[in-house]
Amino acid sequence: MEIRQDQIIGSSPAFLDLMDQISRAAPLDRPLLVIGERGTGKELIAARLHYLSNRWNQPFQKMNCAALAETLLESELFGYEQGAFTGARGRRAGRFEAADEGSLFLDEIGTMSMAAQEKLLRVIEYGEFERVGGNDTIEVDVRVVGATNIDLPAAAAAGEFRHDLLDRLAFDVLTVPPLRARREDIMTLADHFGRKMARELEWLTFPGFSEIATEAMLDYHWPGNVRELKNVVERAIYCAWDGERPICNINFDPFDSPYRPAAQTPKSTPPVNEEPRQGDQKPALPKGRFDFRAEVAAHEKRLLEHALKENRFNQRAAASHLELSYDQLRHALKKHNLL
Ligand SMILES: Nc1ncnc2c1ncn2[C@@H]1O[C@H](COP(=O)(O)OP(=O)(O)OP(=O)(O)O)[C@@H](O)[C@H]1O
Ligand SMILES: [Mg+2]
Repeated sequence: MEIRQDQIIGSSPAFLDLMDQISRAAPLDRPLLVIGERGTGKELIAARLHYLSNRWNQPFQKMNCAALAETLLESELFGYEQGAFTGARGRRAGRFEAADEGSLFLDEIGTMSMAAQEKLLRVIEYGEFERVGGNDTIEVDVRVVGATNIDLPAAAAAGEFRHDLLDRLAFDVLTVPPLRARREDIMTLADHFGRKMARELEWLTFPGFSEIATEAMLDYHWPGNVRELKNVVERAIYCAWDGERPICNINFDPFDSPYRPAAQTPKSTPPVNEEPRQGDQKPALPKGRFDFRAEVAAHEKRLLEHALKENRFNQRAAASHLELSYDQLRHALKKHNLL
């Protein structure tokens, strides 16, 4: 059996700690949760957990829970019997049966309906379920790895995610650090994706990045994490035409253009000199009692994000935009978890 696995790159201390945690958790037959911002590599990590487990030569199934409507998700996961719903011709095995003896990766698990969560809890606890529209109990042995970029304990507190399922899934939680929290990995990854792209374009060598380009990439805060870095690097390389000089042009925003259509937001700021209409003020004042500190902090964070964006995530430019010193800006960014 051929196992094709994308290489996982990174050597920052935070990333190596995670790799250690993965190696320790992989062989245990317990459900796991992988948490992290978008594009941090959760799917790669789930695959690594599978291939480092004793189930490595058994099926590895992946399923994105957000991609399907509630009822479809249930039949996709658990299968269905003939006549389970209109158009259900014949019976069909679901992902749990397909993953028997192997692992099932449930991406965006936080979007699952309560009914599906209940069924999922039972499979995890007792290894059994019924197909949609069926009465026979089916037994499987599947290791579930869930992933999400939402705060599951908060979702559970808000009644949107089952506490018991969360407790069960959270046997161990692997939290993938965002790229801005492991700056040491930025250039290693950029180099890796750069070389791959250069090979794809049939360049004879990969000239690397100029000092300015390197600095810009190290300074950027990468909201889309590794996926965004990969795109930025690939775009920079294909825009460079040839591989003779180090890459110096990095465009973080492909939408950036003088002809970009203006955003169509219904709540546009009223023009100066015009009396704001009732309920149209910006920022809106909270109704009734409110947490003053939390409101002020949220506003501060919005201003910082705005300044960063306006200055293409160049922190020195953002600091001067806000009339702060570079250190003051870094301090504020740290406080708001924007570093
Ligand atoms: N450490 C890494 N080394 C190499 N490639 C990586 C690494 N982390 C992520 N990638 C690449 O970045 C892209 C995004 O990774 P992945 O799909 O696993 O992210 P994700 O966390 O599941 O994102 P999302 O929350 O948006 O689903 C993929 O192309 C993946 O191969
Ligand atoms: Mg994913």
